[in-house]
Amino acid sequence: MIRVDGSGKSNSLIQVRGLDKSYRRGGEEIQVLQRLNLDVDKGDFVGFMGPSGSGKTTLLNLLGGLDVPTHGSITVAGDEITHMSANKLTQWRARHVGFIFQMYNLIPVLTAFQNVELPLLLTKLSKSERRKHVETALSVVGLAERMNHYPRQLSGGQEQRVAIARAIVADPTFLRQNGAHGHARSRRRQARGPHAPS
Ligand SMILES: Nc1ncnc2c1ncn2[C@@H]1O[C@H](COP(=O)(O)OP(=O)(O)OP(=O)(O)O)[C@@H](O)[C@H]1O
Ligand SMILES: [Mg+2]
Repeated sequence: MIRVDGSGKSNSLIQVRGLDKSYRRGGEEIQVLQRLNLDVDKGDFVGFMGPSGSGKTTLLNLLGGLDVPTHGSITVAGDEITHMSANKLTQWRARHVGFIFQMYNLIPVLTAFQNVELPLLLTKLSKSERRKHVETALSVVGLAERMNHYPRQLSGGQEQRVAIARAIVADPTFLRQNGAHGHARSRRRQARGPHAPS
């Protein structure tokens, strides 16, 4: 259970107030988050650490607008997302949240360019504007030369960078990543062999 008491400043980018989340499983109610207050400032890099089952993914899902709380509010850059309709929330996510997935989740039959372009298909950008965004995002991660390659033609690290380009391509308000650090570490360890120091 994540529980942080005391409320912070009111001008932060992400403001969480009195957040409760419980799940109902059968007749049993599982309280995962209880009266959580949290503030994240613009430019902050925040990591949540805690035992398995303590509610990290639950909190990230709420912050990313993938799930709705039982009580409380989440405000991101002035938008309160907790009372948005499902449609509005989908649009909000497309505009404001960059998702970096643990397993990259690249689509194998699409090129790097097409994978990165995907989130932009949910926006109103024209085809030429989309191209400009995709080229910029792939340049930022150093893969401008690999735009027309398929995921299977890329190294693991390059695939990860395509996934990062996809997360930043819509110029989101914040990036959300669930547990990728541990995954990146274990991949690196595998690559260096079992006896390499970590
Ligand atoms: N959809 C759901 N329905 C019922 N219970 C759920 C659901 N999702 C999560 N839970 C429960 O909520 C608690 C928190 O789960 P959560 O996935 O947020 O943990 P976590 O901190 O991300 O753990 P891990 O480090 O293992 O990824 C767990 O007890 C889990 O079983
Ligand atoms: Mg988790």
